Amino acid sequence: MKKLEEYVRSIPDFPEKGIVFRDVTSVLQDKDSLRMSIDQMQALLDGLDIDVIVGPESRGFIFGVPIAYNLNKAFVPVRKKGKLPCETIQMEYALEYGTATIEMHKDAIKPGQKVAIVDDLIATGGTIEAITKLVESLGGEVVKIIFLIELEGLHGRDKLKGYNVDAVIKYEGK
Ligand code: PRP
Ligand code: MG
Repeated sequence: MKKLEEYVRSIPDFPEKGIVFRDVTSVLQDKDSLRMSIDQMQALLDGLDIDVIVGPESRGFIFGVPIAYNLNKAFVPVRKKGKLPCETIQMEYALEYGTATIEMHKDAIKPGQKVAIVDDLIATGGTIEAITKLVESLGGEVVKIIFLIELEGLHGRDKLKGYNVDAVIKYEGK
């Protein structure tokens, strides 16, 4: 059987010249690699005491929900600005060009809850850094942060010092 990393499609010069895009749709569209991706990410949470899985729109939903379901935990979506109907807290973070704002419902996490954050990929780490701030401002404790893919060359982990961070597949470059 092929290894999980062999299912990640790498597209040179997308979305711009010099960037190698690591595509997870090729992982999702094969039943074996879909299962392996969820199982191997979930294994990174083994033995941890977790109350809630938090994942960002949109690719964080794809991996976060099945893991929450398997572990019999709740799932809290972090959404791009303007999508959530009730009272929210917001956090702005830097993109390559400009900024973006993400939101969570204020009642999504209760003080003292133990949170694992799940996303498909860490690049600069800006998205997840913003999510740690949102979770902590609601009184949650971030006990683990997991990804399917880490682009080590972008040093996203540097933004997440002090957190327990893990990824299934690591690429040395950007
Ligand atoms: C991508 C990816 C991560 C984030 C990583 O999401 O899915 O969430 O970027 O980048 P960072 O580490 O530099 O913050 P994107 O914002 O493109 O949206 P999507 O998940 O809706 O495709
Ligand atoms: Mg994303």
